[in-house]
Amino acid sequence: MTHNTSNNKVLVTGIQATGRPHIGNYFGTMKQIVELQDKGYENRVFVADYHSLVSVQDADTLSQSTLDLAIDYLAIGVNPELVTIYKQSDVPEVTELTWIFNSITTMPYLMRAHAFKDAEAKNKEINVAKFEYPLLMAADILIHNAEIVPVGKDQKQHIEIARDTAEKFNRIFCKTETEGEEAGIFKMPEAYIVSDVETVPGIDGQKMSKSYGNHIPLFSEDEEIRKLVMSIVTDSGSVATDSSDPMAGIPSNVFNIHKLFIGNSDLIKAGKTYLASEDALKEFYRSTAGKYKPLKDALAEDLILFITPLRAKRAEIAKNPDEVRQMLAQNGAIIREKVHHLVADVRKKVGFVV
Ligand code: AMP
Ligand code: TRP
Repeated sequence: MTHNTSNNKVLVTGIQATGRPHIGNYFGTMKQIVELQDKGYENRVFVADYHSLVSVQDADTLSQSTLDLAIDYLAIGVNPELVTIYKQSDVPEVTELTWIFNSITTMPYLMRAHAFKDAEAKNKEINVAKFEYPLLMAADILIHNAEIVPVGKDQKQHIEIARDTAEKFNRIFCKTETEGEEAGIFKMPEAYIVSDVETVPGIDGQKMSKSYGNHIPLFSEDEEIRKLVMSIVTDSGSVATDSSDPMAGIPSNVFNIHKLFIGNSDLIKAGKTYLASEDALKEFYRSTAGKYKPLKDALAEDLILFITPLRAKRAEIAKNPDEVRQMLAQNGAIIREKVHHLVADVRKKVGFVV
């Protein structure tokens, strides 16, 4: 297996194995991995099984979802020659780093994290791992000295926490008496968020999320797609709020999902010329004079056209799960080897070497 090491700029990202990925995950992050895979980064992409354990507490479910997600990555076009796809738990050093980060982070600081605040607002009882979820994520990123982290907007705060943590570690541990502050161990990672797709809406218009049950799974069957598209809520939200705007009254929930496909050359080639540009799509929406049914039919058809080849490729890859298992095992070992040096440095800096 060849892995791109043409420069040492590392791209890293992960997704939790908590169920089937949806089109929000795809457009928000997964697609970016495919687009960036041949751009000279050293690409490392993982299934966040440690993170998933916070909510998935059944061994068979977790291991199956982990394998499934690895297959999903391959099915959407992630090239295993260019991207090292691995399992987070195959690099247990991230938990060691998390423990070190625990020791330099205060409770009030982590209590400002959105996920914690949301859970608290809903009076949910959260476990310790959920509370420190952002620090495990900081370790995931910092252990690679990653340059860029493709994510959806909901993860922006987590990347900021990773940056704060890097800075704090560097400040506390990376100085020498004679030279003052040394260049720190950890690099500052940057979030890579594509603004057009930073928050893909679900069928109720809120952010698409597995936990809200408003999602369109990426590998859904045709009937499921039709049913989900027909259930998109159209009585709230409009593409334009100004009543003089020609798009006023056009249901934004349908449009905002449809616009993900603008410029998709396969669909345009298949005759969907209204996807050639945003103006063309807007014109198509205006031309139905506020009738939702033809718009939903068109969206369902486009989703089916888009998803059918992905589903076929997925089915093909899923025939050989052992190959995928082998890839994960090999890649886990590769990544472990690659992070070894940095972890050894960190251990020295904090005083674990006597
Ligand atoms: P999760 O399913 O929460 O593990 O999310 C995996 C990745 O998908 C993260 O980078 C998220 O930011 C991204 N993501 C999840 N939901 C959406 C959404 N509705 N729109 C855009 N990106 C999303
Ligand atoms: N927290 C991310 C999510 O829920 C998943 C994740 C875990 C991640 N570790 C990461 C994403 C490191 C990017 C980098 O979507």
